[in-house]
Order: sequence, then C-alpha cells, then structure tokens
Amino acid sequence: MATSMFLQPARFFSKKAGINHVLVIGGGLMGSGIAQVTAAAGMKVTLVDQSQDILKKSLTGIEQSLNKIASKKFADDPQKGKEFVKNTVCQIETVTDPEQNARHADLIVEAIVERMEPKQALFSKLDKVAANHTIFASNTSSLSISEIACATKRKDRFGGLHFFSPVPMMKLVEVVRIAETSDDTFNQLADFSKRVGKVPVACKDTPGFIVNRLLVPYMMEAVRMLERGDAKAEDIDTAMKLGAGYPMGPLELADFVGLDVCKMIIDGWHKGDPNQPLFSPVKTLDKLVTEGKLGRKSGQGFFDYKAAQQAKKK
Ligand code: 3HC
Repeated sequence: MATSMFLQPARFFSKKAGINHVLVIGGGLMGSGIAQVTAAAGMKVTLVDQSQDILKKSLTGIEQSLNKIASKKFADDPQKGKEFVKNTVCQIETVTDPEQNARHADLIVEAIVERMEPKQALFSKLDKVAANHTIFASNTSSLSISEIACATKRKDRFGGLHFFSPVPMMKLVEVVRIAETSDDTFNQLADFSKRVGKVPVACKDTPGFIVNRLLVPYMMEAVRMLERGDAKAEDIDTAMKLGAGYPMGPLELADFVGLDVCKMIIDGWHKGDPNQPLFSPVKTLDKLVTEGKLGRKSGQGFFDYKAAQQAKKK
C-alpha cells in the first residue's frame, strides 16, 4: 500500500538541511565580499545595512568584482560570464532591518563596526528572533568571540568566521571556536567556508587569532622602522616584496587594510595587555588617523593614492 502523505517522515517536508540562507550584516568591504562569495556559491543571501544608499554602493562593488572574475572565468564565453554575474547578484536581497529578516537564516554573519557594544547589542536582539538552529558568527578581526557570544543564549551555536580582504581573492577563513562552540557548529562553519571556495583553519579565541596576531605587529614594526628613519617607506615595502615574497609591502598593506582599522586593533590589544611591546601605540599611525589619512580608502596614508584614483575615474 502506498504510504499516506500524512505518514511520510517529516524529513520529506523539511527544507534541505545545512546552510542554505545566509544573513550578512554590514555592507562594507568585508560584508559585501562575504555576501558575494556566498551568493556565487549558490546560497541565498540577505545583506543588511543601515540604508538602501549604502546597500546600493555595496551591490555596485559586488558587481564590479564579479565582472572582474567573470572576465577571467568565462573568457571564452562572455555571455556565460554575464549570466554568472546576473545570477549571483540575483541571489542577494538587500534590507535595512536585521531582526525582521533573521528568522529564515541558517547562518548569520556579522561584519559591522569593530566595537564590542554594537556587536553585542545586535546579537542580543537577533538571538530573540532567529530560529533555534541558526548559527551566529562574527567576522571580527580583533575582538573576543567569547565576549560577543555572551550577549546570546546560543554559545554552542556561536563562532568566528574571519575572512580576509579582498574577500573574493583571499583563500583563507579562520574558523574560531570558543569553549562552548559545539562540534556540529564548528563543522558547519568549516563546511560553509569550503563551499564559498576558501580554506578553513581552526583557531582558538585569542587576540588576532592566527593571521592578525602575526600580521598587525609586523605592519606596526614597519611603521616604527620608518619612525626611526632606518629606511624610506618605498624601500621597506620593496624589501619585503622582493626579499620575502609578500604581494604587498607592510606599509601598502596597512593602507589597504585601513589605518583606522590598524589603530583600533593595536589600541584594543594594548588596553588588554599594556606590557606587550608589540602592542604599544605607534605615533605616526595615530597622527595619520587624526589627520583623516586612513590609507587607500581616503586617498592618502603612508602613500598617496589620489592620482591613481583620479586616473581610474577618467
Ligand atoms: N575582486 C575580484 N578580483 C580582484 C579583486 C576583487 N576585489 N581585487 C583584485 N582582483 C584581481 C584583479 O582583477 C587582478 O586580476 P588580473 O591578474 O587578472 O588582472 C588580480 O586580482 C590582481 O590584482 P591587481 O593586479 O590589481 O593587484 P595585485 O596583483 O597586487 O593583487 C591583491 C591584488 C590580491 C590584493 C594582492 O596584492 C594581495 O594579495 N595583497 C595582500 C592582501 C592581504 O594580505 N590581505 C589580508 C589583509 S589582512 C585582513 O584582511 C584581515 C583584517 O581583519 C584586517
């Protein structure tokens, strides 16, 4: 006898298990990149920021990046490239209210301002409305995942997913687990990272995880070297590119990451561990940030980008 529809096991009616819908909060460079690679991997994405104007800029950036990728990936078939870009962008909806849109997400990735209070406030609100199975992740580069997770009652479904800039190009994701992160959550975060084309590495919840703990002091040492007058900025960068094989020199990289971001990271670590000389404040960095010279995004940092940016506009 055919099984009655009502006797079918529940799994026949439930949606495909795992991560199918991702809510990305923060439409800046990191959030946009995370939204982009998630959509390109075929998952539905809801991208959240404070206004549709910001989100419009995020979508423009995503489309530009996808066009670059498509021009290489589909070099022989530009029509297919256009479809890839269109289909990927179609996977992303943009909204301004995270709470209203949290219910249907399997994974929520936060990439908002790098401060503890707003992150905790956001997750605390989302915890009350998100589905029970929803995993929460923060893309913080320097704050404690454990402290952020304290704002929720789902520490077992909480972890760090730390991407690198530019997200579409950088292959790594640091998957950060806190003491309470369940194996299932950790495995789902690692699987998600692989699905979006990245290589996951497991990290403990320590300041800077792996990469930034090594990279930020290295960049700050380059600034201290410049302050001492040991070498010129161009020579420090050339030395590390040609002598150590880095794609960018430390000062260009600091400009690329954002000098305000570097300052926020180093100041936060200094507050937590004032005796660690590697975390001590760096005068030149502070001065540049005070002057609004934030690196590539503001057109000026250790190097001047205005001419290149103007040439690009023409
Ligand atoms: N989307 C799509 N394609 C992109 C892209 C993007 N956002 N950015 C660059 N590309 C492509 C370019 O189109 C170009 O393609 P082509 O070779 O076919 O012309 C290719 O990448 C190389 O780009 P460029 O020629 O413009 O410049 P580079 O050769 O210098 O590469 C780079 C750019 C990939 C950014 C490389 O310089 C690099 O790897 N730099 C180091 C970046 C890094 O260390 N990031 C980590 C920062 S730390 C961090 O993010 C952590 C945070 O918490 C602070």
